[in-house]
Amino acid sequence: MRLRKQGPSASMATAYHRVTRSIRHTAPYRSSNDVAGAYDYVGDDYGRYADGDGLDNPSASTINRFAHADSIVWATICKAINELRDDGVTTLRVLDAGCGPGTWLARVVCQAHCLGLCIEAVGFDVAPGQLEIARKNAARIRPRHPRDTSKIKFLRHDLGEPLPWTDGHFHLVLCNYVVLNHLPKSVLPRAIRELCRVGSFRVVATVRALAGPPTGCIIGLDQVRDYREDCNRGKLALVLKDGTEHVVTFNLYGATSLKALFASHAAIVDLRAIDLFVSRFAPDANWTGNLVNALPGRQDVVQKLKEIEETLCRLPGWIDHGTHVLIVADPNAKATPSQRSDRSRR
Ligand SMILES: C[S@@+](CC[C@H](N)C(=O)[O-])C[C@H]1O[C@@H](n2cnc3c(N)ncnc32)[C@H](O)[C@@H]1O
Repeated sequence: MRLRKQGPSASMATAYHRVTRSIRHTAPYRSSNDVAGAYDYVGDDYGRYADGDGLDNPSASTINRFAHADSIVWATICKAINELRDDGVTTLRVLDAGCGPGTWLARVVCQAHCLGLCIEAVGFDVAPGQLEIARKNAARIRPRHPRDTSKIKFLRHDLGEPLPWTDGHFHLVLCNYVVLNHLPKSVLPRAIRELCRVGSFRVVATVRALAGPPTGCIIGLDQVRDYREDCNRGKLALVLKDGTEHVVTFNLYGATSLKALFASHAAIVDLRAIDLFVSRFAPDANWTGNLVNALPGRQDVVQKLKEIEETLCRLPGWIDHGTHVLIVADPNAKATPSQRSDRSRR
């Protein structure tokens, strides 16, 4: 059993034992209910932790420590959108599986408008509170685009269940940041199969890396008083600073296993580590952030870290050591000839 523990354990012995008990006695375990409850408990704080101020353009945010990872995912998504537009697609159909507060769909909708594309976007999640936030975020971006003809829907759905769309319905399927880690191990293969089935051009997924740094998933570790990650049982137990306890399904996978799961249903277009170094060297905004950012040569250091990442991120020895593994897959390449011609007519 691999355990990672953080925080002042002596003073927190009581809470710690309560968490340990809740890991042992939560049976039968409905993972998505617990995951949904945890994300809905933190509500808006999840988006603030994950996205910082970089809602519209992830590359522009210098404050959020995850901006570098976001900018790689964003470049991947933009490349796919550009290729679709160059292929003559005029209405982009996009699915975001485990959309949370809808940040990625909001970005995609803005981008589609900038490129003059119509868009039909669907986000789904198990957490109703996150879906409400996503709806509010989507409503906020609409007035900025007066010629808005987009359709954006947010639905409650569990990725562990079959997806209610026909084969190849979406040009682009997104599944970013820890969603796949939250599924029970036994469910992951069929969830990946479903993501590839409903996608036609690209599936873009990021999965928390096996050798990456610890994550509180729902909130930053600065808000976590006690942390217990049990990889064998696929559980992450947290006690937040407000004293609440949250136990969520959390499984980690090596890049090779993920590649094999996707390769059964799609051609692998890219497989790489994202954020090998940058977030680990990021200054802490609550600590010495301003001082670190003002250090001479700081920008050069960050730029060098990004360059080194590009040279290492696809090498077998490094791929599991980023913060996430990025998988870009082409489901059409594995479709039968009749499925393919059916998809190309849309
Ligand atoms: C770390 S958040 C990522 C949110 C979003 N993809 C992003 O990149 O900002 C993980 C999300 O996955 C959702 N989730 C977890 N298990 C799920 C499942 N079985 N089906 C659908 N959504 C799920 C959670 O409710 C949460 O909103």
